[in-house]
Amino acid sequence: MNEIVKREALSKDVFRMEVETPLIARKRKAGQFVILRVGEEGERFPLTIADANAEGGTITLIFQAVGKSTWALSRLKEGDEIHDLVGPLGMPTHVERFGTVVCIGGGIGVAPLHPIVKAMKEGGNRVISIIGSRTKDLLILEEEIRGLSDELLVSTDDGTYGFHGFVTQVLEQVIERGEKIALVVAIGPVPMMRAVCKVTKQHDLPTTVSLNPIMVDGTGMCGGCRVTVGGETRFTCVDGPEFDGHRVDFEELTKRLSVYKKQEAKAMEKYEHECALGDKMK
Ligand code: FES
Repeated sequence: MNEIVKREALSKDVFRMEVETPLIARKRKAGQFVILRVGEEGERFPLTIADANAEGGTITLIFQAVGKSTWALSRLKEGDEIHDLVGPLGMPTHVERFGTVVCIGGGIGVAPLHPIVKAMKEGGNRVISIIGSRTKDLLILEEEIRGLSDELLVSTDDGTYGFHGFVTQVLEQVIERGEKIALVVAIGPVPMMRAVCKVTKQHDLPTTVSLNPIMVDGTGMCGGCRVTVGGETRFTCVDGPEFDGHRVDFEELTKRLSVYKKQEAKAMEKYEHECALGDKMK
C-alpha cells in the first residue's frame, strides 16, 4: 500500500510522485488533498492531489522539498512506501458552467491548480490560465496546463521566461483587454493570493483562493488549520481548502504560518546532519 510507482524531479527541489492508493484514486475530486507521514515518527502534512488515475489506482502528488518532512519524502525512491496516507480530505472545488474562468497559479501553487483547471474545463468553462514563478527553472506543469486551457499566459519575476513581472500584472492585462470574467481562482504563496484579491476586488470579480495552513489531524478537531473568513473561524481541512478570497484574513494567516519557523529550521538542521552521517556510513 502507498507504494511510489513513479518519481521524477520537475524542477530544482520540486518532485512529482505517483502513489498507488486505489480507494483514494477512485474517490478523490478536484481540490481535495491527502495528509501523509513519511515514517512512523514523522509529522503529518497535507498535499493536494494534483491528479489521479482511477483505473490504475494511483494519485499524483507534486511537492517542493522545503523542510524536513518534504525532504524526507523527496528521498524516497520508486518501490518505497509512504508510511501512511489519509484522504481524500477537504471539500471538492465547486464547479459549474460559470463562463470564463481565470485560473492563476504561482510557484508550487501551479500543482494544486492543475486539477482545478481540468475540472473547470470539463465543466464547460472557457479557461484562461496564468502561471508564474520567480525564474524559468522553477516553472512547473507548463505543458500540462497549456493542454487543458483555452489560453495560457506565463510570467517570471526575473523575466527569464514569458512576461517579465508578476501574475497580477498579467491578470490586469487580461482584465484591461475587456474579458468578461466570471470567476478567478488563485493558488500560490500567501502574498500572491493576497495581491490577486486586491486586483479582483477593485474590479468586483469573484475570487476563490486555496489555503494551505499548518494541518495536523485533517478532521476539524485539532484547530491547527483555523483561518478567519468573513470574521468567522473556519477550519481549512473540513470547510476548505477553498474560500472566498475577498473575505480571508491574510494578515492572520501569514502570522500563523510563521509560528513554527524556528522549530522547522531546527528540525531541518538535525535532519541534514543525520542524512550526512547516514551517507558517510554507506
Ligand atoms: S487540521 Fe486539525 S482542525 Fe484542521
